[in-house]
Amino acid sequence: MGWIRGRGLVKRYRAGKGWIEALTGVDLQLSKGEILAVIGPNGSGKTTLIKILAGLVEPDEGTVERPAEDGGIFLLGAVLEGTRNIFWRLTALENLIYFGVLRGLTKEEAEERGRELLTALGLWEKAHQPVGTLSRGQQQRVAVAAAVVHDPPFLFLDEPTLGLDVEAQEAIKGWIGDLRDQGKGILLTTHQLDLAEVLSDRVMILLQGQVAVEGKTREVLKGSPETVFRLELREPLPPGDPRLGALLEGPVEVEGTLIRVVGDEGLWWALRLLEGCSLERVERESLSLEGLFWRLLAERKEGSLSSG
Ligand SMILES: Nc1ncnc2c1ncn2[C@@H]1O[C@H](COP(=O)(O)OP(=O)(O)O)[C@@H](O)[C@H]1O
Ligand SMILES: [Mg+2]
Repeated sequence: MGWIRGRGLVKRYRAGKGWIEALTGVDLQLSKGEILAVIGPNGSGKTTLIKILAGLVEPDEGTVERPAEDGGIFLLGAVLEGTRNIFWRLTALENLIYFGVLRGLTKEEAEERGRELLTALGLWEKAHQPVGTLSRGQQQRVAVAAAVVHDPPFLFLDEPTLGLDVEAQEAIKGWIGDLRDQGKGILLTTHQLDLAEVLSDRVMILLQGQVAVEGKTREVLKGSPETVFRLELREPLPPGDPRLGALLEGPVEVEGTLIRVVGDEGLWWALRLLEGCSLERVERESLSLEGLFWRLLAERKEGSLSSG
């Protein structure tokens, strides 16, 4: 099976006397060889979604199709946020052996794979130290290693870089990319929009348990109505130039020779104003995921305010 699929997923939790809907009908498909990033603010349902797809939580409605086992080997690895993914009193290597055996490897296979992974991760010198004595970044690398020790085709990572320093984040990021290039299907949730932007093939923005946007990351960024264009002039407009004043009344930012314009119409308008100026170049500066995300959040707030 080359994919994991969830359809119409609904999850309600009891909250005081009532219920809250953590997921209100989510469809999702993850294929091998791709990274799908699920992003959303705290409480938007990301962890709930991963747990349901992993089979750790039952949805109230909807279905999940996932490959379960192949010859006794689990086809899924997962690192969940805020839970014990590894044993702190066991050494790094012992953890990998334990999880390898748990998921269907022989002890010898698990040990060999554990050595390989720890070496590849630059952690071999820590192999015989209890995990509790390692840094947070090293622990997280061991946790991801434990999730892939049995070489599953699918991997779920819930906030894999949360709380890590920049160096550890870069190491994990590079590794996630490598795992995808090896053909694994990876679902990751993150607060870090820049991480999703550089790493993911597809992105899903979850707001209050609902999919607000879903698509190929490049297209989600490109297809936004608020594309930003960069125009570069050969020479800056002199202060007091009437064109400068006119430009600044539009959806435009001017910084020396660099002019940023929002939207297609803004671009044509600015180009007309600048007729006769020498332009070095005109480029599309794709809207960042961050910009899109905040806009969606703002729209959502306005919507909920106006609807009462
Ligand atoms: N076990 C639980 N019991 C009650 N409410 C829960 C439970 N798990 C999650 N929730 C609620 O469901 C919503 C979604 O939570 P979660 O999936 O953890 O979101 P995220 O991972 O995006 O922060 C939140 O309002 C959260 O408080
Ligand atoms: Mg979460």
